[in-house]
Amino acid sequence: MKILGIETSCDETGAAVVEDGKTILSNIVATSLPLHAKTGGIIPEVAARQQLKFILPVIQKALEEAKIKIEQLDAIAVTYGPGLIGPLLVGVETAKTLSYVYNKSLIGVNHLFGHIYANWIGQAPEFPALALIVSGGHTDLVLMKNHQQIQWLGGTRDDAAGEAFDKVGRLLNLPYPAGPKIEELAKKGNPKKFNFPRPIISSDDFDFSFSGLKTAVLRKVQNLKKLDDPTIADICASVQQAISDVLTRKTLHATNKFRVKSILLGGGVAANTFIVDQLKTNLSALNFETKLLVPSKKLCTDNAAMIAAAAYYKSEQTDWQNLTANPQLYFD
Ligand code: KG4
Ligand code: ZN
Repeated sequence: MKILGIETSCDETGAAVVEDGKTILSNIVATSLPLHAKTGGIIPEVAARQQLKFILPVIQKALEEAKIKIEQLDAIAVTYGPGLIGPLLVGVETAKTLSYVYNKSLIGVNHLFGHIYANWIGQAPEFPALALIVSGGHTDLVLMKNHQQIQWLGGTRDDAAGEAFDKVGRLLNLPYPAGPKIEELAKKGNPKKFNFPRPIISSDDFDFSFSGLKTAVLRKVQNLKKLDDPTIADICASVQQAISDVLTRKTLHATNKFRVKSILLGGGVAANTFIVDQLKTNLSALNFETKLLVPSKKLCTDNAAMIAAAAYYKSEQTDWQNLTANPQLYFD
């Protein structure tokens, strides 16, 4: 089954053709990040205009690379939320139009499930599985007994993990998005130099809270005599360590409680090798049979292959008249 996936929830315009939810035939991403880097964050109106500019060329390229005509597709899948309304509308309305004109099944996909299903591409997760979604907008732990029984365990009460990286980056004058830069600078820093807060790390629930971290870094920066490169590296390493400690502790707490066979990482922060390595080391110390799965870096950040993969496992098709973009979409 060949599905065309379309992803436009934020600042990436993605189109991909994926076969049977696991084999990528093409995966094209056009990003408007350089524009947002100039303004230090995403301006929704600018992101929506860029989506309009990229959407058709990106779809065309995805079909060409997959050597497939729209007529030969089995379905069209599109992210309908969560995300920014303007960018979402571009993808949703394009997918609806293609579905109507070419009489193709249409499948609306929750972006968050997309991040989870990136793990089915070229990998074979076993159930029960625990998914940790860590992106710019979300930090969630989700228990999957199978493809139908999915239970949200907890999430962030304030900032998402990626958001924490980005906000700290702004305080340190690093380019947006700051996650990759903080990871790079942290390699030269001392993670024990600053003891930043790890809120609710030991609570019995599966919630997260990262907003205190940004405030603590702000106070530290204000109190420093000078913010030189070695100090910036120490702050980066200490912040990354704090975020990694919290993500690791909560994920392993859930792993222990639900005795899952796989842990699935997803979202931009899952591209952080330091965090993945800490999770791996702590997991192997537990001596469980649980496997840690991480998508390739290109599949961690926003892309349309993950949307096509998630659609393959979703049985309900959507009538095009009934599909509407939903910026607040979450887990049911
Ligand atoms: O999943 P994603 O591409 O978009 C959303 O759905 O939000 O995630 C983007 C987020 C940004 O906050 C970015 O700073 C963070 O992922 N990120 C990273 C890394 N690469 C991207 N955070 C930490 N380390 C990285 N290597
Ligand atoms: Zn995302």
